Amino acid sequence: MKILTFAEVCKRGDAKGKRVFIRADLNVPLNEQGQITEDTRVRASVPAVKMALEAGAAVMITSHLGRPVEGEFKPEYSLAPVARRLGELLGQAVPLQQNWVDGGFTVEPGQVLMLENCRLNKGEKKNDDTLAQKYAKLCDIFVHDAFGTAHRAEASTYGIAKYAPIACAGPLLAAEIDAISRALANPKRPLIAIVAGSKVSTKLTILQALASKVDGLIVGGGIANTFLLASGYPIGKSLAEPELLEEAKTVMATMKARGAEVPIPVDVVVADHFAADAKASVKDVKEVGAEDLILDIGPKTAQLLAEKLKAAGTIVWNGPVGVFEFDAFANGTRSLAMAIAESPAFSIAGGGDTLAAIAKYGIADRIGYISTGGGAFLEVLEGKTLPAFEILEARSQR
Ligand code: 3PG
Repeated sequence: MKILTFAEVCKRGDAKGKRVFIRADLNVPLNEQGQITEDTRVRASVPAVKMALEAGAAVMITSHLGRPVEGEFKPEYSLAPVARRLGELLGQAVPLQQNWVDGGFTVEPGQVLMLENCRLNKGEKKNDDTLAQKYAKLCDIFVHDAFGTAHRAEASTYGIAKYAPIACAGPLLAAEIDAISRALANPKRPLIAIVAGSKVSTKLTILQALASKVDGLIVGGGIANTFLLASGYPIGKSLAEPELLEEAKTVMATMKARGAEVPIPVDVVVADHFAADAKASVKDVKEVGAEDLILDIGPKTAQLLAEKLKAAGTIVWNGPVGVFEFDAFANGTRSLAMAIAESPAFSIAGGGDTLAAIAKYGIADRIGYISTGGGAFLEVLEGKTLPAFEILEARSQR
């Protein structure tokens, strides 16, 4: 994938004195007082803004926040707290501009202006062409730096890229593209993917897409229970989707036909109810009783999988393999997390629960790349070409 980057634009001096429009993903969680509770995405937007400022540009930055009704402003959808936080991180004021679509405001080189929640603009979600052209008129350079929104084709993520004089990828988006290409397009083998979560149905397309690519497909959580059932093992009262047994069998058959495998657990940790203080017992996978709930992989399985991960060339991680929020059922996820951290493999991880596990075990600096995308990361794993990549690649060829 050849995509023009903002770093290249700056390097050739093309951003000096220019109006740069950055689309970031600043969709952060806020509490009832309107305070940001987790600011990773704001911090992740800083390098693009600094790059533009250092290049001598006048900077506008916008994002969506939540899913407001277009045209209906409500205080909880305002980017005001985000503008304040970005100002703190940059050490300079970041004023917030309302009603910006038709211009009528100024921003000078060296200044940063935040444009209010772009999803308040009528036509944003449906990628209205007139709106996109208005956005494009505001700038000389459009910088797409919103990987978390790269799977959406909206006026500020897609349409504007068609019409802006220059459209390029910001440093965050460029880093995501590099990491994804390294993990999935040209992986060092063996390539092992961990796909875990409560339901096969929500990740079936990912399992199917990965089955034709990876050398090992580790399944966990409710997904693993459905695979255990499909392999003929008892799962008691565990969460599973019996209606998807055929799909699970097809994934295993596809892998087997390629000389690859879906390693099925040999032992599991069970309890008789779902609670932090439920009594945990380790059982051979053949011994699961009618009243048992499988809440984690067992220690033998964790060890076998950890060895595979340590011998991998590339690891893609999405989802914890057990109920790691409860200590008695955390060993599987912790063992795999530590194995990924210790593995020489290039690793890429994404998804809310996965990020929580990475934080819990303190291994963030030992993961090759941690994706900022939720839905966007999952669509990449499904093998889809994200709209952001498609339009920026097309523009890079013009
Ligand atoms: C996210 O939080 O996953 C992104 O910001 C995308 O938000 P959306 O699902 O509302 O488009």
